[in-house]
Amino acid sequence: MTDRIEIADGLTFSRLVYGMWRITDADTSPGHVQEKVEACIAQGITTMDQADIYGGYTAEAVLGGALKAAPGLRDRIEIVTKCGIVAPVGRHAEASVKHYDTSKAHIRASVQASLTDMATDHIDLLLIHRPDPLIDPEETGRVLDDLVAEGKIRAAGVSNFRPWDFSLLQSNMHARLATNQIELGLLAPEPLVDGDLAFLQERKLPVMAWSPLGGGKLFGEAGKPLIHALEKIGKRFGVDAGAVAIAWLLAHPAKSCRCSAPTIPIGSRKLPRPSRSSSAVRTGSHSLRWRSVMKCHEERVMMRCSAIGS
Ligand SMILES: NC(=O)c1ccc[n+]([C@@H]2O[C@H](COP(=O)([O-])OP(=O)(O)OC[C@H]3O[C@@H](n4cnc5c(N)ncnc54)[C@H](OP(=O)(O)O)[C@@H]3O)[C@@H](O)[C@H]2O)c1
Repeated sequence: MTDRIEIADGLTFSRLVYGMWRITDADTSPGHVQEKVEACIAQGITTMDQADIYGGYTAEAVLGGALKAAPGLRDRIEIVTKCGIVAPVGRHAEASVKHYDTSKAHIRASVQASLTDMATDHIDLLLIHRPDPLIDPEETGRVLDDLVAEGKIRAAGVSNFRPWDFSLLQSNMHARLATNQIELGLLAPEPLVDGDLAFLQERKLPVMAWSPLGGGKLFGEAGKPLIHALEKIGKRFGVDAGAVAIAWLLAHPAKSCRCSAPTIPIGSRKLPRPSRSSSAVRTGSHSLRWRSVMKCHEERVMMRCSAIGS
């Protein structure tokens, strides 16, 4: 079972989150998707991470299909979704170029489409997917505040923002931005030292760490220097290397601060994976010790960990 973290007043998320970026790469029938969501819930993973753009603007409807087919399921999960990327596919096929849109009109239209597609009357957390170089922070801040006040979203946050982008938007809002969802993991450790995590920790805000396994690259060439060490630790706990990599994130010292500990969207097209990942909670958060080697290699900071006692 995975433990939980407070995201906003009266709103908690499971620390492991099911990422639905890849949901349209597999069987999208309502029954199969429902089975995946139920498998996650059985492991304590109740939070689902979506975005309007996933599956070429179709992934939210795939989740919606399962929610329509299973009355009551919506009330057992929390839904995160994102908006702001306009790519020339699906409902935005007429766009001449991929761009970001954080205008009031776009955010409102996107939220309405997300609510309809997911067959729900509210989104638990809406994230602005990427920093928009043409953002009007007053307009974007106001529409996010309005959506919270109207109950269409329970909280607002951002994704892939640098601290200055976050501060600019926050300074134009009444509601508190709840989180920043950023790439963070053994293959993307930079936020640990470049100020992104420190910024959230200082504000006692939780980070959401996307692609904790490097989107699968951890198991290929890019992960070669690490995978052996992860497997060795995994053997001690009877779990696989992926679970250790997630446990490494869960064990970040920020865990001692209830708010800034990471919540981690994990992605998979396959059913058994969420259960294997949830073994990360059993393994890790308490049994891993962080060791930062800080070996600057090709300007990347290598971070390592070991099992307590080794
Ligand atoms: N905010 C953003 O900009 C942003 C960007 C990217 C992602 N995200 C969110 O983060 C979520 C997770 O991203 P992700 O899917 O890249 O996460 P990930 O958990 O780092 O990677 C998942 C990939 O790793 C593979 N994998 C897992 N365990 C494996 C193993 N033991 N051996 C080989 N391959 C393994 C999975 O393969 P299988 O499919 O075969 O299981 C899947 O393709 C997304 O679904 C999305 O919700 C957000």
